[in-house]
Amino acid sequence: MSDSTVSHARQRRRRAMLWSFAFILLLSIVLPLGYALAQSGGQGVQQQQRQQMQQQQRFGQERATNPRSDMWRDAREGQGGFTTQTGPYVTNTMISNTGETWRQFRMGPLITYGGYLLIGALVLVALVFTFVGRIKLSHGRAGMTIQRWKPFERFLHWFTAISFILLAITGLSLLFGRSVLIPLMGHQAFAAYADVGKVVHNYIGPAFSIAVLLMIVLWVKHNIPNKTDLKWFAAGGGIFGKSHPSAGKFNGGEKVWFWVGIVIFGTAVGVSGFLLNFPLFGQTRADMALYQVIHAVTSLLWIGFFFGHAYIGTLGTEGALEGMTTGRVDVNWAKQHHDLWLEQELAKGVKPLPAESASASAGAVPPVGQPSH
Ligand code: HEM
Repeated sequence: MSDSTVSHARQRRRRAMLWSFAFILLLSIVLPLGYALAQSGGQGVQQQQRQQMQQQQRFGQERATNPRSDMWRDAREGQGGFTTQTGPYVTNTMISNTGETWRQFRMGPLITYGGYLLIGALVLVALVFTFVGRIKLSHGRAGMTIQRWKPFERFLHWFTAISFILLAITGLSLLFGRSVLIPLMGHQAFAAYADVGKVVHNYIGPAFSIAVLLMIVLWVKHNIPNKTDLKWFAAGGGIFGKSHPSAGKFNGGEKVWFWVGIVIFGTAVGVSGFLLNFPLFGQTRADMALYQVIHAVTSLLWIGFFFGHAYIGTLGTEGALEGMTTGRVDVNWAKQHHDLWLEQELAKGVKPLPAESASASAGAVPPVGQPSH
């Protein structure tokens, strides 16, 4: 082969290489550009592509883009699917958006604002105690007592109070477990405690609800609002200043505790708790999330309100607690706090008894601060 033939062949090879390189370069620019143009070709095209892909998915065909990411995207958007696990909340629901929304609410605002609410209520009670102090018996004790609560009423009250406290402790432990108790107790101790707490909560709940219902039936007749209550509120319930506004068996404040605390919160907490405890009525996952939110929010409000009730019934008012423990109150206490009720009782012929004989006949412990003789 002559030298000129060899150099021609080399030139042709070099030209072929150059053309190939230019062609590849052109493709590497044109193809992505074309793809980008096709992608930005408006919503319509994208929607068409998406519909096409969904159709392909439905018919189980091979798809152009990553099939797994599209499947999970659809599942997240709530598209039905197939699950091997079946049950009232899970059949063919691969990812529950309701569940995730609920989880974020529970772990976020519910815990944060619920915590603020309880701390706020305790701070308020402490402020009232500091700046207003105990409401004393302005004329001291009369030494004569009158029956205020019958044995069954006291039993019902303390049954409700003890179960409420147990429910509040176990309920708050489950709600604030991860954020407050696990850092303090560790995972294992909390798991053991939460296991017992859950059982206690679930068994006491129904009994408590029945007691609350009985309380409503028993005391509703004393809680019908009237004009006396408005005057009681106008006088600030006698908390501020020296006046003692009139009241029947229950004063305006007690009626608010009865209607808001016992009737409204009691019904909301009781019904939602029942539906959570017994998922036998076709409740869906979304229903359960809703009931949990109602249950937790109303329980938190109720516990905050309860701090106020327990304070007024103990430290806040001299002579109130003995009514609920022994059944009898000092006549001066009745005159100061429930004058209209005292008048009614006396008009009915109820005779006040000396404190000692009354407590001896009732077999009760004398009130705190009273000698037993
Ligand atoms: C440690 C907790 C509690 C204490 C110290 C306490 C104390 C008292 C006292 C002293 C009374 C009598 C007030 C009076 O004679 O006028 C009373 C009444 C009452 N309690 Fe409680 N209580 C407690 C918990 C509860 C709970 C948990 C509930 C309901 C969930 C409740 C519901 C009532 C109701 C409806 C009344 C009658 C109306 C009223 O006085 O407000 N109590 N309580």
